[in-house]
Amino acid sequence: MPHVKTKPISSHELETRASKYPDIIEFVAHSINYNELLISVNYENEKFLLIYKYDDSEGLLKFEKITRPLKLATLKEAIGRVSKLLELEIVSSNIENLNKKPPLFASKYYKKIEDFKEVHFDFDKVAIEVGFGSGRHILYQAAQNPDILYIGIEIHTPSAQQLLKQIEIQNLNNIWAVNYDARLFLEMLPSNIAKQIFVHFPVPWDKKPNRRVISVDFVSEAMRVLDMGGTLELRTDSDLYYRYSLEVFSSFEKIKMQIQKNFALPIISKYEARWNKQEKDIYDITMVCNEKSQKFDNNFLFSFDKMSYNISMAENLPRESNIYKSFFVHFERFYMIGKESMMIRCAFGDFARPEHKYIILNKEGCYYYHSEPIGSRANFDAHNTIKELLNA
Ligand SMILES: C[S@@+](CC[C@H](N)C(=O)[O-])C[C@H]1O[C@@H](n2cnc3c(N)ncnc32)[C@H](O)[C@@H]1O
Repeated sequence: MPHVKTKPISSHELETRASKYPDIIEFVAHSINYNELLISVNYENEKFLLIYKYDDSEGLLKFEKITRPLKLATLKEAIGRVSKLLELEIVSSNIENLNKKPPLFASKYYKKIEDFKEVHFDFDKVAIEVGFGSGRHILYQAAQNPDILYIGIEIHTPSAQQLLKQIEIQNLNNIWAVNYDARLFLEMLPSNIAKQIFVHFPVPWDKKPNRRVISVDFVSEAMRVLDMGGTLELRTDSDLYYRYSLEVFSSFEKIKMQIQKNFALPIISKYEARWNKQEKDIYDITMVCNEKSQKFDNNFLFSFDKMSYNISMAENLPRESNIYKSFFVHFERFYMIGKESMMIRCAFGDFARPEHKYIILNKEGCYYYHSEPIGSRANFDAHNTIKELLNA
């Protein structure tokens, strides 16, 4: 990842130099406990943080993962520019020889979770595939049904990148790839929009069942997102997962289910091909959505009302993680911007997919730097707890 190593420079000197370029360097925040500075940068219409860590012998300028812009090239250029403006004496750097190829995540078919806040599908029909892996099935479906938008959701980043590459190669315009946890993704979608949700060969997680994609919460969100008559289609080679899912599905009222064994699909994924060779049984459970769901309001407001900085906050806020039933809040690091403004790095929300954000408190108010959290229930509950803790 792009960085430059430098001869050390004092935090005071760095801030003095930074203050000459307010158009590019918005502010410098000083860690309360560590030799670490956060530098807020405006570069190429993006706002993000760089971190400068230093000790007596060396300094290191790199990007902050939480606010990272999508394009590696932007980061690399910004690190180069800022180190020049700050007159850092570079000892070594990897920003010159980084790969210049634009990342596949710059593809218009790659969708960030934030993009679903105000989403227009531009297709009348939508289908979703959870954990598409090599992408064979979603690519096949999209090629066969050009009037349907396929949203693929995959937690494994290289698989998502592989799919984006294939979308380009096959010249398809009806697939979106989302690199996120499917257990949390459905919560971002409006009600009654999908005609199919495929869950093919989910990881069985026999030893950690709480990590399974199929759960009562997932199925109820799936039923909300599916339109009347739409289907949730599970395909698995695991006898245990099949029986577990049957139990989960059966706990729902007003549903219709169809069960098949060794039913051949027109396309066989790489994963399935392996089991076919071993003549393993394959199970399908198709669950039909039998009712229209209510409009979903996930328009959570992540504001802090009239909250502002006071001098005792840094001392009084809890350092340990605050754990609740379905979410947590952890104030991880504290920084000062000048004497009357504080910045807090905070982890919060769902245990499986925590949100990380910086919160700025100054005399005028309090807000998330530089974007709000994802509009999920766990994040919103955590946000309300953050407000209470900051107010205490
Ligand atoms: C066994 S593979 C099956 C892949 C593909 N569906 C097939 O049939 O070949 C399971 C896939 O689900 C993905 N996955 C696991 N947990 C996930 C989650 N919570 N959200 C999204 N994808 C997930 C994995 O990264 C993996 O690609």
